[in-house]
Amino acid sequence: MSEREVVEGSTRFFIPEQDENSSFPPGSAAVFYNSRMRLNRDSTNYLLRQLDVSSYFDAMGASGVRGLRVAHECGIPVTINDLSPEAIALIRRNASLYPDHDITVTEEDCRAVMLRQRFDVVDLDPFGTPAPFVDIAATSARRYLFVTATDTAPLCGAHLKAGIRRYGARPMNTEYHSEVGLRILLGFVLRETAKYDRGIEPLFCFAREHFVRLHLRMTGGAGRTDNALKNIGYIHQCTACPWRMSEAAFLPTVQECPECGAKMSRMGPLWVGPINDPEILSQIAADLKADDMGESVLARLVTLLDEELSTPAFYNYHQLARHWHLSPSPVADVITAIRDAGYQASRTHYDGRGIKTDAPLHVLKSAIVTKK
Ligand SMILES: C[S@@+](CC[C@H](N)C(=O)[O-])C[C@H]1O[C@@H](n2cnc3c(N)ncnc32)[C@H](O)[C@@H]1O
Ligand SMILES: [Zn+2]
Repeated sequence: MSEREVVEGSTRFFIPEQDENSSFPPGSAAVFYNSRMRLNRDSTNYLLRQLDVSSYFDAMGASGVRGLRVAHECGIPVTINDLSPEAIALIRRNASLYPDHDITVTEEDCRAVMLRQRFDVVDLDPFGTPAPFVDIAATSARRYLFVTATDTAPLCGAHLKAGIRRYGARPMNTEYHSEVGLRILLGFVLRETAKYDRGIEPLFCFAREHFVRLHLRMTGGAGRTDNALKNIGYIHQCTACPWRMSEAAFLPTVQECPECGAKMSRMGPLWVGPINDPEILSQIAADLKADDMGESVLARLVTLLDEELSTPAFYNYHQLARHWHLSPSPVADVITAIRDAGYQASRTHYDGRGIKTDAPLHVLKSAIVTKK
């Protein structure tokens, strides 16, 4: 396998040469590496720098870049695993660049490792869906569970049946499908952990391009798990008008649109609670600033997450404008107009034209055109 050296953060490592050739899709080489997932890895490292962690398990290492960066940039002892012999050869070569770090390399199905060993942090980064791995990870992750999903089509409703099979929830292909996908994954993870009397607290979760990334704190005990389950619910979308709303409930009750009386369509069960911990976000923002990364893509993402209302579902206000045959004002003006009318409103990281608000539709309609 011919190799090429790359640097991410302050970590140097080798990847298969073939990967970055534009004629091949990312990951088509014997060992997977996708430079576009760098933001995903950066986010994890900045979070880990805020936490007190003594062991980290990179369950699906590929080149080992995640575990290597955590060891080198966060000073945390890591175990990097993969079941592919080619990946393990590369991980060992990359680990040998850092003889002073505490790096263990294992070559197994990650489920076998997680069945017998516990780690402060378990990080799942599979091809596509993490669904088959979350159950065992819930028993192995002592304090934190991190999960990437790249199967956005099943999660977001484009492949409805696959989504139902994998996640036991009903998505729907709406303009806010990326948020529905993230919340369905969160709801699924909680149901997998709850059977072991363990709950979750989202610390830093986001959807971007074709992936969802979750960083969760694991809690223990029946009471805290019951509390976490209070965040399970549904998003209801009116079949006749743009109205959408969420409901925290184990069994849904909403049937009719409160705006127009038409039948509501339902997505879920899914997580309807907050997806971020504001204190952690402000620590990460300060850390990024101190690193001269205050203008970086990651810093912009953290700022948006911090501003975003925690309630589910948003409107793409350009779609609303089309629906009402209006010409929309800039997003900042629309948000100000909604707030001036006495309602909450924010931008959202899911969509540059997305607005989260608790305002009724008539308020949104007059806010969309701020200059008459
Ligand atoms: C998407 S890649 C991981 C990418 C890597 N974490 C990164 O950030 O670049 C998925 C890896 O999981 C490995 N894999 C798939 N199933 C596995 C399993 N059951 N146990 C351990 N590794 C597995 C594959 O060999 C592949 O290298
Ligand atoms: Zn309606």
